[in-house]
Amino acid sequence: MSTIPVYDPLRSEMIHDPYPTYARLLAETPIHWHEGMGAWVVVRHADCLRVLREHETFARDPRRNGEKIPEFRQNVQMMDPPEQTPLRRLLVSAMRAQDKEKLFDDAVTFVRGALTGQRPDQPFDWMSRVSAPFALHMSSALLGVPVPDGSDYAGISHGIALRMDAGLAPENIPEGDAARQRLNDLGESWFPRPEGDTGLVAQLIRRADKEVHGGHYIRNSAAMMFNASYGTIFAMVGNAALLLATVSGLLEEVARPAIRQTGVDELVRFDGPAQGTSRIAVAETVIEGARIAAGDTVVTLLAAANHDPRVFADPQEIKLDRRPNPHLGFGSGPHACFGSEFGKLSVSAVISALNDEGMRLRVAAQPTRRTTATVRSMDVLPVCLER
Ligand code: HEM
Repeated sequence: MSTIPVYDPLRSEMIHDPYPTYARLLAETPIHWHEGMGAWVVVRHADCLRVLREHETFARDPRRNGEKIPEFRQNVQMMDPPEQTPLRRLLVSAMRAQDKEKLFDDAVTFVRGALTGQRPDQPFDWMSRVSAPFALHMSSALLGVPVPDGSDYAGISHGIALRMDAGLAPENIPEGDAARQRLNDLGESWFPRPEGDTGLVAQLIRRADKEVHGGHYIRNSAAMMFNASYGTIFAMVGNAALLLATVSGLLEEVARPAIRQTGVDELVRFDGPAQGTSRIAVAETVIEGARIAAGDTVVTLLAAANHDPRVFADPQEIKLDRRPNPHLGFGSGPHACFGSEFGKLSVSAVISALNDEGMRLRVAAQPTRRTTATVRSMDVLPVCLER
């Protein structure tokens, strides 16, 4: 096996802008063995799509590769069909039962409130002032649970984001597992009596068939959904804000009702928070001429696939009316994101809150990004608000 030292996702240039490297990989190295991660890295859209969809060959569940998984890590995201199917159906149906219009209006009101009284000449950090409290508020509203303490929760979420990079930085595993345990403890506190009658947790309690779904799987999955929601909304609202603040005319254009839906999808394609995910081959197979052995890990770089010129014309351009837009920013197959509509609704609400009040964002000082590879997120984004 050869080592291709081109992909080093924690290097500062990659954290800053991974897309030139993705373009090189897409053109020259559709698959390579990454010595550091001990995994195959796949970048092209067709190959990523295949790995995500062909769950018979590519497992998410490490137990199919003979690994033991402690109870606290067992949730919908690490199970595969057919075992996963009834649980996923339950979660999807509870998700669909939520009142999207009410959540959207609530989101717009929240963003307006967060920006009330902000003077145009006074810079502030978008991530701590808007992204973090907004993500916490939206995730709590979705699940119908009390809003946790912000700084405490930020620590849990960051620990879990670091855990996602375990292949690159195994030293983060103990901290990440401790964060997961704290998240599950938080999830336990929502059961068996949620605060109100609405919200996802109340739906789950009402709809769950304990015989089919098993108690800890539901509770762990609810906690996992809270974090999937918090982490991605935090990151996506930050990534989108940077684009809105730096690309001239983007906010006015994407705020147009006729373009909003395709526009938000395009922002997710262009610079989404989920850079990649992984699967374990459970049978020998071939990708782009490389022989993948059973037991090998395959990393799919979703963000690279989203810039594959074989599928997306002018991939480095934001085309708000791009249609079709088969991006993999929300994954695909049996683990595709079922919070995607809610995630897009949240980003759309931020756009609406800014535009309806005639507010514009301007970068006020050098922004910094978090040094995580799987999740791409701003750390500090100093902006001014102009009217
Ligand atoms: C812009 C926002 C979001 C992005 C970019 C995003 C991205 C993704 C991606 C790429 C996956 C697939 C991971 C894989 O295949 O390994 C995923 C799965 C998932 N997402 Fe999201 N997500 C977003 C928002 C949300 C929200 C708001 C929720 C709230 C419930 C959510 C819940 C989930 C869950 C539960 C899964 C796992 C599904 C399964 O394994 O069956 N996501 N997300």
